[in-house]
Amino acid sequence: MNKMRIVAAILALALPALVSAGSQQLERGKRVYAVFCAQCHGKNLEGQPDWRRRKADGKLPAPPHDASGHTWHHTDADLFAMTKHGMVPPLAPAGYVSDMPAWKDTLKDDDIWAVLDYIKSRWPEEQRKYQQEVSTQSAR
Ligand code: HEC
Repeated sequence: MNKMRIVAAILALALPALVSAGSQQLERGKRVYAVFCAQCHGKNLEGQPDWRRRKADGKLPAPPHDASGHTWHHTDADLFAMTKHGMVPPLAPAGYVSDMPAWKDTLKDDDIWAVLDYIKSRWPEEQRKYQQEVSTQSAR
């Protein structure tokens, strides 16, 4: 093996640890997002207008999934649970009414992880690091 190939082999081994989601995973997540999430959370993850203010029906608009929202404050486990089961206990009070659907009958777990990876890939480094830290801390 020449030097280049050794370097390439080391990179191939180390990359999955450095970049948690490969490009195929991100493509998959992007497709899932466009079909199932963009209508509410925005084509560019920008959320619905005036998303902090309750609507006339008392429900909250869809928040952005980009760095201006608070998706990056939540752990992986919580984001997964909210996407799979919707806004139900323990992540929301019992009887909480929300427009956020539960995706468990529509999306496979792998699709949910893919769309979350896609959302994360759109955050700047700072938000990504923060979210990674809260996730690892809560997993301990
Ligand atoms: C019909 C509209 C709608 C669709 C479609 C939708 N959401 Fe939501 N989502 C919401 C609303 C509204 C909220 C805010 C819930 C609340 O607090 O009541 C929300 C909240 C969330 C949250 C919590 C975010 C946070 O910052 O606390 C996550 C995660 C989420 N959605 C993921 C997704 C994913 C992933 C998809 C696509 C698979 C999706 N949503 C599709 C309406 C939607």
